[in-house]
Amino acid sequence: MKVSIVMIFFALFLGGCGKQSAAEREALDKAKPGYQVARSFCSQCHALPFGDQHPPAAWPYVVSRMEGYMESAHRRMPNPTEREAIIGYFQSN
Ligand code: HEC
Repeated sequence: MKVSIVMIFFALFLGGCGKQSAAEREALDKAKPGYQVARSFCSQCHALPFGDQHPPAAWPYVVSRMEGYMESAHRRMPNPTEREAIIGYFQSN
């Protein structure tokens, strides 16, 4: 019994090693085009989401829903160019 628990922890530890740390991931995201514009619009109400939270095809819908919140909160809305840049940023996982 004791041995199997140790094995599970060891497996989790090994699994964790393959993953990027939050800091590494953030650094990679910052290098993507559209980061600045996505950050300026999408971190006003909550933390900037990660692109892999949704499949690429779903991002336009998420952004539209968020635009609804921006509108009701009387915040500046992204113009069409900014909207494209934001969607492109989140789609480039
Ligand atoms: C005016 C405030 C506001 C702004 C600005 C805003 N959001 Fe949100 N966001 C919310 C609220 C409120 C929720 C929780 C309710 C919900 O999920 O609809 C949320 C939840 C989310 C979620 C988690 C829910 C899900 O569907 O995965 C994502 C992802 C997200 N927002 C993406 C974005 C993106 C991308 C932008 C920039 C285009 C953005 N948000 C800008 C208010 C905002």
